[in-house]
Amino acid sequence: MKVCGIRLGLGTPGPCQGVLNTREPTISWQTETVKTDWIQDAFQIKIKYEKDPEFTEYDIIKSGDSQWVNWPGIRLSSREEFSISIRVAGKDAPSEFSEWSEPVKGQVGILSNEEWPAKFISLEDQPKVENNPPETLFRKCFKVSKSKSIKSAKVYSTALGIYEVEINGERISDDYLSPGWTTYESRLLHQFYDVSQYISDDENVIGCRVGAGWFSGRVGFEGGLSNIYGDKRAISLQLIIKYSDNTEDIVITDQSWKSNYGPITSADIYNGEDYDANLEISDWSRPGLDDSEWLNVEEGENPTHIEPQSFPYVRQINKITAKEIISTPSGKSIIDFGENIVGFVKIHTTAPKGHKVTLKHAEVLENGELGITPLRAAKATDNYIFKGDERGETYHPHFTYHGFRYCQVENWHGSLNIDAFEAIVISTSMKQIGDFQCSNELLNKLHDNVIRSSRGNFVSLPTDCPQRDERLGWTGDIAIFGQTASFLFDTTSFLNSWLQDFTCEQMLNEKGNYNSPPSGVPPLTVPDIIKYTDHSWGPVISAIWQDVSVILPKALYDSTGAVCILKNQFDSMEKWFECIPKLEGKVLWDKTKVKFQLGDWLDPNAPSDEPEKASTDETLVADAFMFKILTIMVEVCSRLNLEVAYTKYKTLCDRCKKDFNDEYITPSGRIVSDSQTCYALAICFDLFYSNDQLEHAGNRLTEIVKKARFKIGTGFAGTPFITTALSITGHLDEAYSMILEKECPSWLYPVTMGATTVWERWDSMRPDGSINPNSMTSFNHYALGSVATFMHEVIGGLKVLEPGYKNFEVRPQPGKDMSYCKVSHDSPYGKILIEWSLNDKNFNLEATIPLNTRAIIILPDGKSQNVGSGKHILACEYLESK
Ligand code: BGC
Repeated sequence: MKVCGIRLGLGTPGPCQGVLNTREPTISWQTETVKTDWIQDAFQIKIKYEKDPEFTEYDIIKSGDSQWVNWPGIRLSSREEFSISIRVAGKDAPSEFSEWSEPVKGQVGILSNEEWPAKFISLEDQPKVENNPPETLFRKCFKVSKSKSIKSAKVYSTALGIYEVEINGERISDDYLSPGWTTYESRLLHQFYDVSQYISDDENVIGCRVGAGWFSGRVGFEGGLSNIYGDKRAISLQLIIKYSDNTEDIVITDQSWKSNYGPITSADIYNGEDYDANLEISDWSRPGLDDSEWLNVEEGENPTHIEPQSFPYVRQINKITAKEIISTPSGKSIIDFGENIVGFVKIHTTAPKGHKVTLKHAEVLENGELGITPLRAAKATDNYIFKGDERGETYHPHFTYHGFRYCQVENWHGSLNIDAFEAIVISTSMKQIGDFQCSNELLNKLHDNVIRSSRGNFVSLPTDCPQRDERLGWTGDIAIFGQTASFLFDTTSFLNSWLQDFTCEQMLNEKGNYNSPPSGVPPLTVPDIIKYTDHSWGPVISAIWQDVSVILPKALYDSTGAVCILKNQFDSMEKWFECIPKLEGKVLWDKTKVKFQLGDWLDPNAPSDEPEKASTDETLVADAFMFKILTIMVEVCSRLNLEVAYTKYKTLCDRCKKDFNDEYITPSGRIVSDSQTCYALAICFDLFYSNDQLEHAGNRLTEIVKKARFKIGTGFAGTPFITTALSITGHLDEAYSMILEKECPSWLYPVTMGATTVWERWDSMRPDGSINPNSMTSFNHYALGSVATFMHEVIGGLKVLEPGYKNFEVRPQPGKDMSYCKVSHDSPYGKILIEWSLNDKNFNLEATIPLNTRAIIILPDGKSQNVGSGKHILACEYLESK
């Protein structure tokens, strides 16, 4: 028996996984043992603080808790490093404790601006640039004491822009686009790097390169805006060298640094990067360079609150070899990487000095040529000018990223060699914790596409798309996809950070800093840049989108059991609920007071240039979601023991249900709009009063679905729910028919068209191979991939019952000709694995239940049993009619 998988706060400790942003992190762990039915009886924690060579052992606690356990120790300091170890005993043998776990190291970041002595330095008199600004280099020489041995060397750094750090000529980390994009007006994240291995025991140089990134680069659609947050590219960094006698040397950014321009002559998130290797300053981050000609820096004000980044950094997560060189009808050469990815291309070749090669990126081809119309204003083009090194030159961009499968190569020197190209895939490097596989290859591909689209749109923040001039934190997209995402990836610390930005935006509006939206209203995108424009969408509030304030914390809570997320977000939830304009005396949206609702956005039946004009009444959709968020708020109040608020929201929730029924549902269960989405929402949100109504609604939904020949008729609102609604009303066969449908619009249609990611529109590419000409057409949008939850819960049969999978349901529901399925999830307590197969009329199941949890297994013959941890092998006769 041993303790493993220790988690501190919301994240897992490790290099580039972020650092702690609290003095009292919660502690979670898993236990491994060969015993079955194991339940923890007690635990003990010991901590070794930085100042103390010995572990401090804390009291044995008699408790089954192994998740989100309160910090037992003394409050930690900024920059403190500590080790923690845990042991446990089970109920089977309460006096027999396991060995102490391997100690796990924790690292606290810098928790207050007062402890951030480093200045923000920028090039002296740096000119303001509107478009595609160049990079700035910064450099500082420092010495370390020769007479003492170094215990540790750590860098805490951030930038106004995006940056990379080198010490003595080597990059200190493989992260990209740091410090990422947050609501900069309120919070800027600092990164942490352990750099002991890069420090030499005499002369050293630390160098930083800073690009404009989201801070001063252009962001936003319809032209966007540049220099939103400021116009200076600045770095702020502290390097702390600790010697074995516990003395410290500190190097901070200040006036003593030198600055210069570098080889990146322009860099922009949307447009790409220009790199002139002839402008490289060799050894710019090494000792020995004469930097007397370098320019001075100026110190600027710290513009915001600096916080530790407590979630994984954006890093290279994969490397893809080029698959094919395509010659286009117009004579162009295009490299096909075989899958639609997010990142950039790395080239290696020789060319004469001054030769310029151009790389243009796109997700699809149209008429055999690069399909760039979906990129809108984003140029997605990198240019590299060779210095003429005969040994070959290697280049990949630093301060941009692209969403692409194809790369058009222009002006290559000599003949194109496929081996000269490689695609670097980047993403916020969260661990994948969920997977699905079944006997249907097309469904497997769909699931792979959902994973690829998650990776591609989790780049520093949850974005809508990775390729066009947008890539924004659209609230509705993650509201719809958050649950699926949290099953597939360890999203907790990442999405929790984004929720903090969400709350910050609400507070900014509350202070009345921006006059467009009413006070306290959350924006449509987080970070919000629309507020700086006079775009007509500035003041828009819409169900689903801003409902994310309630829906996303609930999704994170369900997947982790972390009550702190609910606690932290409760004010934000209440504030949003207050903002919703309601009909006099009713708990329904007042449509006269909103500009418009995005509603069942991208319903395939809506006009393709007016995606909000769905077949389901948009106010009905908004009201159904109002009921949904109220049911969540009632649950949150109960979990947080907020009695008064509980009564308030319970009353509102009951009233909302009544008002919804009065307005939209007939006594027999027919619903206004009579569409796939209205039934899906009412069924899944539990909006009916009687089982008869529910049954009637399920039957009616089935009729509609059959009439549509199983083609999808839902947009953002209905898509996550339609197949589940069919299955819970006893129409599993029809649910399978829908998910297996291949004609457009359907989930498998893009797969049959060769898609390797989830598309924004059901018909982003039309059956004739043409790109949907509407300006909003991406081939990498995760929202419609939320159907993966149906695959996990219904086909695979894994459904959470008690938050954090303390208790869950194992209920595979085979259908159509599906003969095999395997679903897995690394839950907070350990790995859950469900694997089933159908052999003739025999259904076989193997389910692995983690320690300290319980599950109810329901077989297709209807028999159920409640089980504890261990591997369970069960079988039954399978009768299709069940
Ligand atoms: C985005 C969507 C987003 C929508 C909101 C689009 O441009 O790509 O995914 O939710 O706007 O209206």
